[in-house]
Amino acid sequence: MDERILTNEELESDTFEISLRPLSLDEYIGQEEIKSNLRVFIEAAKMRDEALDHVLLYGPPGLGKTTLAHIISNELGANIKVASGPSLEKSGDLAAVLSTLEPGDVLFIDEIHRVPKFVEEILYPAMEDFELDIIIGTDGKSRSIKIDLPPFTLVGATTRAGDLSSPLRDRFGIIAKLNYYKDTELQQIVKRTSRVLSMNITDDAALEIARRCRKTPRIANRLFKRVRDFALVEGTGTINQEVTMASLKKLKVDEYGLDEIDIEYLDALINKFNGGPVGVETVATAIGEEVTTIEDVVEPFLLQEGFIKRTQRGRMATEKAYDHLKISRQESLF
Ligand code: ADE
Repeated sequence: MDERILTNEELESDTFEISLRPLSLDEYIGQEEIKSNLRVFIEAAKMRDEALDHVLLYGPPGLGKTTLAHIISNELGANIKVASGPSLEKSGDLAAVLSTLEPGDVLFIDEIHRVPKFVEEILYPAMEDFELDIIIGTDGKSRSIKIDLPPFTLVGATTRAGDLSSPLRDRFGIIAKLNYYKDTELQQIVKRTSRVLSMNITDDAALEIARRCRKTPRIANRLFKRVRDFALVEGTGTINQEVTMASLKKLKVDEYGLDEIDIEYLDALINKFNGGPVGVETVATAIGEEVTTIEDVVEPFLLQEGFIKRTQRGRMATEKAYDHLKISRQESLF
């Protein structure tokens, strides 16, 4: 059973995605190296009849870390318990989840970099020795007790591997970085989604979405759903390139897949800060976004695509950014 420590809101927004999620490594498109390594590690753990070593998945949001965690538990034939860093506010919250684990289970902690430090300390003996060390009672009368846990696999996901403390990072035997997807892989993902949702899409329309989704399956699926809405209302039985192009225009997604926030960011960098270098806090304030959104969501893609670069003194816009916004370097000085 899939037991979740999630708010209702999170649960609701999750249900639709789940039906789109592949359930096995064979169905999962892309991330080939990670898949082939995981196949070996999972197979070996099963041959030894042991729990799989702890797995850390990291990379930008929307690339399929949660999906992979569920797939790992399916492939192991194990149960999965789901928690998230911010939901584990007290040590008791973590102890409660740990004490429900059965041998070989997967405990998935999303946003593991947000687990509070004192809760994290309970994870160390749990991960290393399958031991739950808890303190009961208060002050003078408190004592520490140790409870044996069954062998289990912790799967942690984070957008920021650098934010994990080294004692925590060192306790993961398998560390996998998810990378942005290739257009052909995203095209296959969009086609798969269209099959799951029973809506035809032409190959060129699927490729168009693939090219404009910031190399991110979650965004590809989101764009697919919106394009599907336009196609439905406009009476196009099949999603073709024409309706796709028109819909993406209305959704303000440009030919590189940059959305409104990306453009605002580049525009501020160039027009307000003369192309940089400028600190991330300054840009974030200028466009009214959270620093974490900028760092975890906006910048990784802009960096990967060469629209910005990071220097010692801050972020700078590249030639490609000026070209894309159709601004000459001279113009931006005035
Ligand atoms: N849906 C979201 N990500 C996917 C992936 N990598 N493979 C298949 N379907 C997906």
